[in-house]
Order: sequence, then C-alpha cells, then structure tokens
Amino acid sequence: MKPPRKLHIKSYGCQMNVYDAQRMADTLGGEGFIETARADDADLVVLNTCHIREKASEKVYSELGRLRLLKEQAAREGRNMRIAVAGCVAQAEGDEIIRRAPTVDIVVGPQSYHHLPQLLARAARREHAIETEFPADDKFAHLPPPKADAIRARGISAFVTVQEGCDKFCTFCVVPYTRGAEVSRPVADLVEEVSRLADHGVRELTLIGQNVNAYHGEGPDGTSWPLGKLLHRLAEIPGIARLRYSTSHPNDVDASLIEAHRDLPALMPLVHLPVQSGSDRILAAMNRRHSVRNYLDVIDRFRTARQGIAFSSDFIVGFPGEREEDFAATLALVAQIGYAAAYSFKYSPRPGTPAAELAEMVSASDMDQRLARLQDLIDHQQSAFNMAAIGTTVDVLFERAARNPGQVVGRTAYLQPAHVMASPDIVGSVLPVRIESLERYSLLGELALPAPRTEPKPSPISIGA
Ligand code: 5AD
Ligand code: SF4
Repeated sequence: MKPPRKLHIKSYGCQMNVYDAQRMADTLGGEGFIETARADDADLVVLNTCHIREKASEKVYSELGRLRLLKEQAAREGRNMRIAVAGCVAQAEGDEIIRRAPTVDIVVGPQSYHHLPQLLARAARREHAIETEFPADDKFAHLPPPKADAIRARGISAFVTVQEGCDKFCTFCVVPYTRGAEVSRPVADLVEEVSRLADHGVRELTLIGQNVNAYHGEGPDGTSWPLGKLLHRLAEIPGIARLRYSTSHPNDVDASLIEAHRDLPALMPLVHLPVQSGSDRILAAMNRRHSVRNYLDVIDRFRTARQGIAFSSDFIVGFPGEREEDFAATLALVAQIGYAAAYSFKYSPRPGTPAAELAEMVSASDMDQRLARLQDLIDHQQSAFNMAAIGTTVDVLFERAARNPGQVVGRTAYLQPAHVMASPDIVGSVLPVRIESLERYSLLGELALPAPRTEPKPSPISIGA
C-alpha cells in the first residue's frame, strides 16, 4: 500500500473558509491524503484565501514567499511539494497569481473544490492547473460527506454552509464577484448532512452563508423554504441542542425568521446583523438599500419576539465621503442599540468594486482616529454585556478540556467563553453555570447542579437559554 500523502490547509477570513477547508480535506482524504499541522513536511499545501480587504489578500503573497522556500527545500530532499491557492483571492486573481508567484501549481476558485483531484492530476503532469469558472455541476452534490472520525475530531460545534453568494452588491464589497450569485442548498441535503453530524456528536450548528437569511432552498414539498422554516426542521434532529446562523442582511429578515426566534428554544438569542454605518447618506452610497430607521425597526421586531436577544454587527469607518457628522451618527447608533460584540474595519478599496472609483477618500489619520473611537465604544459595550452575566446562572454548552488543568470550557448562548472546574465528561452537555467573575473576555463560574452521570449515553442535554 502506498503511504498516505500529507495535506496542510491554511485558512484565512470567514467561517465559510473554515467549512470549505473541511470539505477540501474530506475530498482529498478520498485521494489518500491525511491532514498535517505542519507545512514543511506536506505533499500538498493549500492556502484558502480571503479577498475581503487588501490586508487579507496581500498576506497570501507573503505566505507564498515562505512556501517557495519550503518547496525548494523539499525538492532538495527529493520530495515533491505542490502548492494550491484556493478561496476568494484565487477567484478574483486567477492566473495573475501564478504570474506573481510561479511556485504555485494549482489555483482553484470556491465553486470548484470538487474538481481538486483532477487539478492535482494535472499538476502532477507539471501543468499549471487553474480553475476559476463557476462550473455547471454543483460542488455540494459531488463533495463526499465527512467521515465519522473527521466529524469527531472537529468537535461538538460545526458550521454548515446552507447558502452561498450574494446578490446585494454593496458598493465596497467583493463577495458578489468572488462567491457569485446566491445559491441555496436543498433542505433534504442539509437534513442529511446535519443528521450525520449529530449522529457523531455535533451538538451545535451554525448555518452559514454570505447572505444566510436570503436562504430559499427547495423543500421536500417542492416549495422554496425560507431560513426560519429550515431552522424549525433542523431543530427536530435528535442531538442538536443549539442553532445559530450567520451572516444576515437586515432587508432579508422575514416573518419566518422572527417566528423562529419566538418559537425555537434551540435558536440562540444572538443575531449577527451588520449595519456598516449609522448615517443614511453613507448607507445610500454603500448601496445598502436600507436606512437607519429600517435597521432599528428590524431590531425591534427581534426584540419583541425574543426576550434577552442580543446583537452583533460589522462596521466600516472611512467609507469615501464619510464626514465627521456621518461618523458621529454611527457612534450614536451603536450607543442606542448596545451591542454584545461588533467588528469594525477601516474602509479598504477593492479593485472592481464601484466604491473603489470614488474620489473623496478619508485621510488615513481620520480613519485611524475614527476606528479607535468606535472600537473603544464597542469594547465598553462588550465589557458591560459580559459583566452583566456575573451573579446570574446561564446555560453553557461545554466544548473541550481547557488549557488550565481541571477546567472545562464552553460557551454561553451569547458565545461568551465560560470556564468551570469539572470532569471532561461534561463535554457535549448543556449545563447551568453560576457565573462568578470575568477575566478579560472569559467568564468563570461553577456548575449550578452536580455534574450528571455520564451513563447511559447520549449525555444529557437541556435545551434552551
Ligand atoms: N473594506 C473594509 N471592510 C469591508 N468589509 C467588506 N468589504 C470591505 C471593504 N472593502 C467588511 C464589512 C463586512 C465584513 C465581512 O467585512 O463590514 O460586513
Ligand atoms: Fe457584501 Fe454582505 Fe453587501 Fe453581500 S450584503 S455585498 S456579502 S456586504
């Protein structure tokens, strides 16, 4: 028997890349590859790249510089190392990547991962193998399901792509170009994939998509199902204790999603709902297609449906033409909503997007200063949100033994890490924890009830927040 070949995948960017990396590993597993954490002894290194901001995309080229040296060293030792660039930089730059970095053997866009075995065969014939088309065959129908041991190794919390692509065309964003038009996976396929994950120990599921709440997959009854209906169906799968989804656009929040938050205890009360800016003028220039008022109305609908619901968001500071009063409106919106967490970025012009043509750039010093002010406000809100947990008893889904001996770590409904002293037998269970203190971003507490016996399996799960 041939010895297994070694595969090293390095992912950048969003959760979808994490999921894609797993599916690539599953596909290449069928070709005799096993994963290694080290690039230097790998037979195939895949860089799974992100194009969302310039910094993310430039990282690829510095990494390729390092890999070139590893590849040369491997050749001196008589080994053949292949290098593949996958993800959104591959999609956006195509053969330009090989021109800038001739060490690369394979360039593969996100819609073509099921063709990796053929691309590898071409690379073995010393051809450059480039595939960045949006192929007619559906990758999800061709990617093999993960094996039981791979699911177990990945832990009790899993991502599943339910939707890909975006039709919104915000003027700053590359996603509609790199990931293409919105496509939703059929309900039956998702039920099958999730059942398999749950059978092998997955307890928490995050449904992902670039515009996940535009989901409109074909249901078993032949009609198009919205995200809320899909969530109801997946909540019925035995073993699934928690459901989440990301990332949503405010305009695609429909009645089914609001009802799901009202009716499904397993659906966690934390919604990632990016607004990008608190200024209507900037929202219009961004082509967000909603106003601040529309966004606040959506927040109200969630809050009415589910007590204790919390929000996170993304913000861009320094979009072309952003004046001090626009930025002040962003701060005011953040202050009004009170986020559990938020991510903020300096505007980065992306080639090919409409905003990259806009002339009225904000100066670097204004951008830096605005980013610092916004992050300061968000940090205060996040600390206040975390501090509010002290003295309360909250449900924690335990994920793994912590680095500190004797501790087990899990997450609250709001994704806050929580540590307790307990036996690692509780991994996979949702248990009430009395929160005693906060250390940086992590909560510390004690199990509120004695740890349950582990027999009989499956371990007990109390559903709900
Ligand atoms: N510049 C800065 N931030 C961006 N994002 C998307 N495109 C850009 C860009 N060109 C941010 C948005 C989005 C998040 C994933 O990345 O806030 O919600
Ligand atoms: Fe990009 Fe999100 Fe706008 Fe789509 S909705 S274009 S993914 S920022």
